[in-house]
Formats: sequence, structure tokens, C-alpha cells
Amino acid sequence: MTRTLTPTTTAGPHPRVTDIPHLDTPAPYVREVPSTDGHLRVELPSGHTAVCLTSYEDAKSLLLDRTASRESCNVDGGPSFMPTNWAPEVLINLDAPVHGVVREFVSHEFSARAMRDLEPTILELTGQALDDLERSDDPDLVRDVFRLVPAQVVCRLLGISTDHARTMNELGRRIQLARRDEVDLIVEAWQELYGWVQRLVAEDTDHDDSGLLAVYKRRATEPGFEAVDSTLIDGTVMGIVLGGDNNVATMLSKTLYAALADRRLYEAVVADPGLIPDLVEEILRLMPLGTPGSFPRELTRPLTTSSGVLPTGEIVYPHINAANRDPSVFPEPLEIRLDRPRGRHLQYGYGMHRCMGSALAQIELTTVIGAVVARYPHLALRGAPANVPWDFGTGLRRPAALPVTLGNGGEA
Ligand code: HEM
Repeated sequence: MTRTLTPTTTAGPHPRVTDIPHLDTPAPYVREVPSTDGHLRVELPSGHTAVCLTSYEDAKSLLLDRTASRESCNVDGGPSFMPTNWAPEVLINLDAPVHGVVREFVSHEFSARAMRDLEPTILELTGQALDDLERSDDPDLVRDVFRLVPAQVVCRLLGISTDHARTMNELGRRIQLARRDEVDLIVEAWQELYGWVQRLVAEDTDHDDSGLLAVYKRRATEPGFEAVDSTLIDGTVMGIVLGGDNNVATMLSKTLYAALADRRLYEAVVADPGLIPDLVEEILRLMPLGTPGSFPRELTRPLTTSSGVLPTGEIVYPHINAANRDPSVFPEPLEIRLDRPRGRHLQYGYGMHRCMGSALAQIELTTVIGAVVARYPHLALRGAPANVPWDFGTGLRRPAALPVTLGNGGEA
């Protein structure tokens, strides 16, 4: 069924991402570099020059190339948007064939079907967080709900106490903000969080017998997974902790902020909650988690693009945020339209490194936003959108707080 968003102002039928204060994302690179072969080249914050693929088809071609190497980029002094490397054993930094073995080892529990079973847990945790929000004198959706519930869901998944959620979230936030002037802070937070993850994997004391920690430890002893040692399990769990928590918090915050900053969006989902997946989809299409939406790769064989052939050894960046605004795929790309066909954006990546947690992210985004919309049809920002404070990090860019009035009977 085609649904249209009814305009409530004279500004045009659809909100535009560029009209909402702070929301749009600047280019993640330092500058464009002169180039003679028809490809766009850019300078990365690490100082390296990379080819930047901006069309939908070119970005997909690179993401589909199973030989393009992440491993060779994630080295000291390697091409990167981030100010530091991440552990080589984290899934996004592994190349084939080890990547395939670890992916098979880990991803069964993240299927769409498995994630649908989580819905009651997400609803329960969201309900508790909203109860607490209502008791607060200054309700803040980011602090009280969006930075808490996804972290608690990760704890439940791993089989550990939800008491760890706040600390896990704050350490992950510091790492993913990835500000170049805060390298010491990133390293310190990484060591604390990864040290904790390594202890969880090494010891049997702090987790139950049914969560992912127990499942992965058992599976590592099964035939076919001899290559998965404790270091690879550490890296896998770290990927779940980093991605499962703050990535979802970031997209929850940006989605609700966009809807409240242009109330036509909020009113549309209140009137028809069936549009919530469309709202989630559109904000995802337009918003990477930080400034870059993906990681650079090094070509280990030539890659054919719409502008020619790139040679082995070239550093290439799939610019997902530009690809998601390719007008040949998304007409009027800057418009937030709730009537676009679903399932085409590349914000979860594509190919071998496609986001392992996308089904988890989807069920959390739609369930948490659905619970908020159902409970607070008159929810509003407490103040002008331009005054909402933001975290402007490289890996994490989102409202730092969402002070709201709940509008459900006079309280807060
Ligand atoms: C809305 C939230 C999320 C977004 C937008 C997102 C986005 C992405 C993207 C774009 C990639 C691929 C990067 C590249 O190819 O350069 C990726 C990979 C990954 N994501 Fe997510 N992610 C989200 C949530 C999650 C969650 C909830 C988890 C928890 C399990 C997670 C875990 C991972 C892992 C482990 C990888 C690496 C996969 C691999 O290399 O095979 N992400 N994500």
C-alpha cells in the first residue's frame, strides 16, 4: 500500500534532512584531492589518499568484493577515519577466509527470527525505562531510555547482569566518539572495556549458562571451529558490545530527534504506527552512525567502477551516505519520505561485512520507538531543536540529550 505523509505546514510536502538543525552529516574526509582518472579522491583524516565511491552501484561493487582488505588498513599508521586502530580480531577487521569462519560461528544467534523472539524483552526493558522517565524532574529520552535499553538488551543477550549496562554504554561512547584530540581517553576506555570483555570470556563466574557467552564458549569446542580461539571470541564479543549498544542508541536518538524537530513526522507515526518502520528506514538511509558510514579497504585485485578500473593497492572508501542519496535510486534524496520502497539503503553495509546486528537494530528501533509513540502521542522537545546538545564524534554523532515534555496528563 502506498502511504503519503500529509503536510501540516506550507514548507513543502516532505521534511528535508538539511532543514533540521544539526541533523545532516558533513563529509567525513579532510578535502578532495585533484585526480585525473575520473575517480573522486579524498584525503582521509589519517593523511592517506583514498578513492571515494559515491554512486550506489559503485559503493555496492566494492562492498561485494570479498578480496578487498580491511586487515591491511587496520595497522599502525594505516588509512583510517579513526584516530586509533581497533583490535585485529574484531570481525570488521578480518579478511577471508578467517572472516567467514568467525561470521558463521557468531551470526546464527543474530538472525531475524532469533531477534523477533527478543521483542518481549525489549518491551519489558523499555516499559521500565519509561516508568523511570516519568518519575524524573527533567525527562531526557537519551539518558533515561536510549542509552540504557540497548545496553541492557546486550547484557541479557550475553547472559550477564543488566547492572553492567551504564558502564558498558559510557565506555563504548568514549571509544566511538573517536575524537582526534582525545586519543588517551579512547585508549583508556578501550583497555577498560576490552579487559572486562576478556575476563567475561575467560571466566565462568559472571554469566549464566544460556546467554551468548556460554553458547560461544561451547561452540568453540565443536568440530569446524578449531580456528576460533579465545582471542577471536574476545573480538566477537567486543563487536557485539560496541555495535549492539551505542549504534542502536545513536539511531534511536537521531530518529526521535528528527521526528520531534519536524513534528509532521511525529504526527504521522502517531496517526499511523504502521509508518514507524518507514520512519526508521528513512532516517537510517540519510544518517550514518558517525561521519563515515563504513571503513576504507585496500584492493588486492583491480576493481571496475563506473569511472574505470582501479588498480590493486588502491585505498577505496565506500561512501555509503552519498550512495544512499544517489538520485537514480532515491528520487529527491534529501526528502524524508515515508512512502519510499523499503530495504534498499546501504546503511547496514552490504556483502561480506554487512552488519551482523542489523536484525537486532531493526527490532530495537521499531519496538522502542513504537512504545514511545504509543505512550506519548503529545511528546514534544523541551525547547527549540537548534538548542538540543549534540555529540559530534567521528564514530558517533547524535543528540547528547533529548529533554522532552511527555504531554500525558500534566507531568513533566
Ligand atoms: C542502527 C544500528 C547499526 C548500524 C547503522 C550499523 C552499521 C554497520 C555497518 C555499515 C557495518 C559494515 C561496515 C563496513 O562494511 O565498512 C556494520 C558491521 C558490523 N556491525 Fe553494525 N550497525 C548497527 C548495529 C549493530 C548492532 C546492533 C550490532 C550488534 C551485534 C552490530 C555489529 C556489527 C558487527 C559485528 C559488524 C561487522 C560485521 C562483519 O565484519 O562481518 N551492529 N554495521
